[in-house]
Amino acid sequence: MCGIVGYLGARNAVSVLIDGLKRLEYRGYDSAGVAFLNEGALKVHKKVGRIAALEESLQALAPQTRIGIGHTRWATHGRPSDRNAHPHFDCTGKFAVVHNGIIENYGELREQLGARGHRFASETDTEVLAHLVEEAYEGDLCAALRAALEHVRGSYAVALLSEYHPERLVAARKDSPLVVGLGRGEYFLASDIPALLPYARQVYLLSEGEMAELTLDGARVLDRQGEPVAKEIFNVDWDAEAAERGGFPHFMLKEICEQPRALRATLGSRVTPEGDDAVLKEISLTLDELREFTKVTVVACGTAYHAGLIGKYVLEKLARIPVEVDLASEFRYRNPLLDAMTLVVVISQSGETADTIAALREARARGCRVLAVTNVVGSTVAREADQVVYTWAGPEIAVASTKAYTTQLLVMYLLGLLFAKARGTRTAAEIAEVTAALRKIPAQVEMILEQKECLRELAEKYCHCENVFFIGRGLDYAVALEGALKLKEISYIHAEACAAGELKHGTLALIVEGVPVIALATQDELLEKLLSNVKEVKAREGTVLGVCLGKKEEVARTVDHVINLPAAPSFVAPILAVVPLQLLAYYMAAARGCDIDKPRNLAKSVTVE
Ligand code: F6R
Repeated sequence: MCGIVGYLGARNAVSVLIDGLKRLEYRGYDSAGVAFLNEGALKVHKKVGRIAALEESLQALAPQTRIGIGHTRWATHGRPSDRNAHPHFDCTGKFAVVHNGIIENYGELREQLGARGHRFASETDTEVLAHLVEEAYEGDLCAALRAALEHVRGSYAVALLSEYHPERLVAARKDSPLVVGLGRGEYFLASDIPALLPYARQVYLLSEGEMAELTLDGARVLDRQGEPVAKEIFNVDWDAEAAERGGFPHFMLKEICEQPRALRATLGSRVTPEGDDAVLKEISLTLDELREFTKVTVVACGTAYHAGLIGKYVLEKLARIPVEVDLASEFRYRNPLLDAMTLVVVISQSGETADTIAALREARARGCRVLAVTNVVGSTVAREADQVVYTWAGPEIAVASTKAYTTQLLVMYLLGLLFAKARGTRTAAEIAEVTAALRKIPAQVEMILEQKECLRELAEKYCHCENVFFIGRGLDYAVALEGALKLKEISYIHAEACAAGELKHGTLALIVEGVPVIALATQDELLEKLLSNVKEVKAREGTVLGVCLGKKEEVARTVDHVINLPAAPSFVAPILAVVPLQLLAYYMAAARGCDIDKPRNLAKSVTVE
């Protein structure tokens, strides 16, 4: 995800900015840029690719400057390029902004600004901010930013530099982190603490809606109304490596905890302002074209394949269209039955998985249209597919996929709603109901994350077992598969998922006294059947952990431990139910002392067959 740094003080600002950006490299980025004041004039340098390229381009110039802002971009709106890299300017070139987050209504704003004569130099959502500041500016930089942000819907951490104010930086945040570093006679801005570690150990952590104003006289924090806020100083005592993980012991835990934010970003502009419908504007196929497809084939690997399995249930239920789900490594060699009326959906976090790319090419060679669901802008999958829907999970660094998976699920629901509309299989009221349930998910995931400690205790109790079984019916079965994969890949405990109804066709032979079985019990229509399977396990003295929506007496009575999720419709339960499974896997692996972020024999991006 993008990174922001800002500096004002006696050092060479460009060196501080470049160093700060390098310290944020671990977050992933595709381009970088800085803006600074050089002899009173606002200058910008930005480059696609590595920070080293930006650094090189600045070396010839060797600017001596005391104030500047910098950014590493992880493309969202517009492909990675020099032009789309931040900072962005207004029409006059007097204001430069860097921004993390997504401006959901940027399309409307861009149109309105265009009609008022503004000209845009990039494809980004961010650039509208610079033009809005230009319009709002009446001599007070802070007031101009505040006024500009009043027009904006979405999430942001933003920093603003202007030629009119050679000793002032202003910044603001909403749903995207931003901190102010307090040095001696020098002040810093950063989206993440690691950027500041060599310079400042005392910081203000900006809260939602707050703004910061940095001058050589000090740093002030202001509320939404522009009133000063008495801010507590936070003392940073992390080492550099821990700080990259934002204080979390592992990237995996950090990424699990980032899910509310990732889900909000993925849903973001895809819900109508009224909140009663979902839209996927990036899909250029019309409803008529979508209606013509007779089949959907989803192709992916590993966790992304599990997202595809949920997608099958969702699309078939909402849109009544047949859906096949294939492992990419199987699909490419089995001569699949495809025709021009089949939409092939490939799901890939990295967009670089060799088997998935090969499957995509195979599908295109056979005349299918391919829609990609991916997390990485400009990845091979994104470039080669006909249509792309991005998950805005931000860079996923831990090998075990967590936030990419839940955002993939969200996209599959949105796709289901789109197909339902095209095929007329759901009423507007039904679509509004599903949309409303999806909108609640990020806050509900937050509630599940609050149970972290209980899950850790549970995990520590079972961390020495040799086998764990996951059972479920319907959507819960697909979640069970993901739960088992998560556990085995990071803890090295043998974990197996079984459709609950299949237990007695073989797997039950392995259930003996004390064997832990995790029973997903979120599907209300199938609950009775599932509980019968749980009783089969109990009769063999297995130990059952049940996961259910809200408080369910019949589940609590039947299992040994119960994990309660917030109450929600069963149909959207997978996005919630997987979260405690991720945490259980994480804490079991942690208790066993495993190398969680880099499990043995595994790689984050599988670019070989
Ligand atoms: C498991 C995991 C893998 C990936 C798989 C596909 O936690 O991360 O199973 O899901 O290698 O990777 P992408 O989604 O990048 O194609």
